Amino acid sequence: MEKQRAQWTGKVGFILAAAGSAVGLGNIWKFPGKAFEGGGGGFLLVYLLIVIFLGIPLMLTELAIGRASQSNVVDAFKNLKHKEYSWIGWVGVIGAFIITCYYAHVGGWVLRYVFSYLTEPAAVYSDPLGYFYNMLGYKAEGMTFFPLTAVLFAALFIALNAVVIIRGVESGIEKFNKIGMPALFLLLIVLLVRAVTLPGAQEGVRYLLSFDLSRLTFDTVIAALGQAFYSLSIGMAIMITYGSYLSREESIHKNTVLICTMDTLVAMLAGFIIISSVFATLGSGHIGKGGGFAFVSLAGVFEQMPGGQLFGVIFYLLLLFAALTSCISLIESIVAFLTEFFPWDRKRATIGVCVFMFLIGCLYTATQAAYPIKGIWFDMANGLTFPPFCDFMEYLTDRIMIPVCALGSCIFAGWVWKPENVIAEIEADNTPFRLEKTYSMLIRYIAPVAILIILIMSFATGTTLS
Ligand code: PHE
Repeated sequence: MEKQRAQWTGKVGFILAAAGSAVGLGNIWKFPGKAFEGGGGGFLLVYLLIVIFLGIPLMLTELAIGRASQSNVVDAFKNLKHKEYSWIGWVGVIGAFIITCYYAHVGGWVLRYVFSYLTEPAAVYSDPLGYFYNMLGYKAEGMTFFPLTAVLFAALFIALNAVVIIRGVESGIEKFNKIGMPALFLLLIVLLVRAVTLPGAQEGVRYLLSFDLSRLTFDTVIAALGQAFYSLSIGMAIMITYGSYLSREESIHKNTVLICTMDTLVAMLAGFIIISSVFATLGSGHIGKGGGFAFVSLAGVFEQMPGGQLFGVIFYLLLLFAALTSCISLIESIVAFLTEFFPWDRKRATIGVCVFMFLIGCLYTATQAAYPIKGIWFDMANGLTFPPFCDFMEYLTDRIMIPVCALGSCIFAGWVWKPENVIAEIEADNTPFRLEKTYSMLIRYIAPVAILIILIMSFATGTTLS
């Protein structure tokens, strides 16, 4: 039985939904930390190059595959008459699933901070780092405290996602984005002004603008690739799902450029806001792993701002929207697959996925601060290692599944389905796509070779950056 597929309602609906998927915790929670660890200016430059030369062609490809096949990520390849490439979809869905497990938990932390700024900003201000660790459970005098607060808020956040997904694509996702995205952008600009004018912040700005070749290592490139794909929501076949809801009247290439630009702008804004506030408030010595940046460093900014508490609440509310729209895209892609591949109804599939995800995500939250549960990893440089479970989840997706799925998509589009078909799909709305040759070159040679080298190098050398 042919089910009627949902569609975005018009232009704005799609751009905002896809941009909503792209802009999320990756931009605000992950990017600044990576940019710092990756050496500042050098990282930004590599990041930009990757977005332009790998990110844009890959997003075009995923959207075109999705729209041409009109189906979920696994069946997409079958519908395009190449069932043997369905593995790309499988890697995508499984990767999306693992990401969602922890993404939804971090979303829960954001929700926690909305309430923290509403009810007890003084507690956050007085010891930002302690407050953060407290939420995550911690070890003190030989006792381990379970991260109850974080886990409860994660459950709430996941429930919110489930409600939106069960209500369906158009009504749920689009509504969130129409207000949330522009509002987030405006607020970031306000925060940027505050952050860079804090005493001591200039050092952070300088750091992000300075280009120090000696800090530009292979690790930086690996980290930038993982981060760029993650941030653009590509390499997980999410854009295949979203493309399948896109009508043939819309322009794929214009939308792609717009989405990539918006996503990158938000990441850059967040980078400047957060790195300058870290320098100004915590001091560069406190820049450890990037994980807590968005939670810890901003306390000092809000504290020193008139109406800081209100700004704090608004900021975390908007971050919550951004996280929600990204998380929804992840779950939506998995649910679309489950309901079309198995005879499951939408509600059952959504609830099942959400509960399962929540449980696995608990391991992520629990291993952030308190519990010593380990994963297992192997690379040539370090041999067998046992990283904390939370890092293990991110390694799996960022270093293996995302690049493998992206590589598969390049090979599929460049050599199997062929660039002519991608381009025909891109031009289905009758707007000419002028960069056909460049696109073919990138998708057939440059992107796959670059991704392959990075995949191999990350396995050969290991990397200190996650
Ligand atoms: N791009 C989203 C972000 O930056 C996260 C995400 C990853 C969403 C993968 C969908 C797929 O937060």
